[in-house]
Amino acid sequence: MIIAIDGPAASGKGTLGRRLARHFGLVYLDTGALYRAVAAALLDAGIDPDDNAAAVAAAASIDPAILGDPRLRTTEVGQAASIVAAKPEVRAALLQYQRDVAATAPGAVLDGRDIATVVCPDADVKFFVTADLAVRAQRRHVELTGGGQMIEQGAVMDDLSARDARDQARADAPLTLSEHAHLLDTTKLDIEAAFKAAVEIVDGTTRA
Ligand code: CDP
Repeated sequence: MIIAIDGPAASGKGTLGRRLARHFGLVYLDTGALYRAVAAALLDAGIDPDDNAAAVAAAASIDPAILGDPRLRTTEVGQAASIVAAKPEVRAALLQYQRDVAATAPGAVLDGRDIATVVCPDADVKFFVTADLAVRAQRRHVELTGGGQMIEQGAVMDDLSARDARDQARADAPLTLSEHAHLLDTTKLDIEAAFKAAVEIVDGTTRA
């Protein structure tokens, strides 16, 4: 089984994806971490994230072991990730890895921006997870400050809206609500309620 989860920054995709993967015995892949890893490699080497050739080279040589590194979670890396993610050759270099994870038994939950549209258009269940910007900023602020980063909530909100705008406006694989996706607005749903709603949808879809 393949479950695709897309949505804007800090909408709760990761938390939901991890819980669904555990519940259904699937592998979980945070595809945003791939773009963040490319960005971090460039920033570490002092290279401008806009450098296409360097970004493509970094994408071609990612070590999956780095994907869980908390260093990838900074706002600086997130911004640079959305710059490298707009590059078609970077996206192409990361595509096969994502498809291989999805195709490996017993299946996977993938979260990102283009999972339902590009990476796994044949996914069994597709979700589009969103929430109001202010709510997403508040949740991400708690996450970042909890991880030791010093940042104002207003700056988090600016960061999220800049990334959302870039992710929606790019020509290649922009963030969009795909036709068959189930919309899950978590503005007023806590993680438990969102998880329950998602499980019901998956159970209903796979029973049908
Ligand atoms: O965790 P958060 O929602 O803040 O972002 P993320 O999922 O870690 O993604 C970081 C950036 O990677 C996004 O802003 C996108 O530009 C890019 N991304 C993408 O283009 N396609 C994906 N499938 C996943 C992430």
